[in-house]
Amino acid sequence: KQVAALGTAWSGSPDELSVAVADCTRCDLHCNVTQAVLGEGPQDASLMIVGEQPGDLEDLAGRPFVGPAGKLFDKLARDAGLDREKAYVTNAVKHFKFNPRGHRRIHQRPNIGEVTHCKWWLDAECATIKPKVILAMGSTAALALTGNGSDLTLRRGEALKLDDGTQLVLTFHPSFLLRMRDPDKRHTAENDVRRDLDLANRLS
Ligand code: URA
Repeated sequence: KQVAALGTAWSGSPDELSVAVADCTRCDLHCNVTQAVLGEGPQDASLMIVGEQPGDLEDLAGRPFVGPAGKLFDKLARDAGLDREKAYVTNAVKHFKFNPRGHRRIHQRPNIGEVTHCKWWLDAECATIKPKVILAMGSTAALALTGNGSDLTLRRGEALKLDDGTQLVLTFHPSFLLRMRDPDKRHTAENDVRRDLDLANRLS
């Protein structure tokens, strides 16, 4: 199997990629998790959706966006006319970062070093899938793809271009919406995400 050497671009097959990520020790996040969670979806998808990192349920299931954030994402995508099955769905970081609290595992945001180490895998997925459009959900995905993890309020909603020509749309993360207490603000933010999903879908 292809060895995931630092600084070397990926040139293996999608199957080899999912085998290789299972052995990833690029940062310490692999130490306490169930498994690495690679993206899933058609290998010829023209749209790639990038979240932050697997959560508790994703870590157990080995699949991205199957927990509460995933359920909200599915709903907003359906509302926007986007068929999730047609997109490749992945995360900026492939291991769940958490703090143990009793029996619970409390999500912790990955730091810039972890995001940078894991960018190798995201680049490998991009090299394999070659998406036309990437929708980055949340500031960690935005950081991984643009080097800038600042507030998305003023950055979301338009098509940007990555150096290789791939179109990039930034939007809020579904977990951010789930944490919003003010119903009006949440309603507005959900509509923003629907619009961004629609834009990414139309461009792809
Ligand atoms: N949040 C993410 O960013 N990704 C997942 O897969 C689940 C929750």
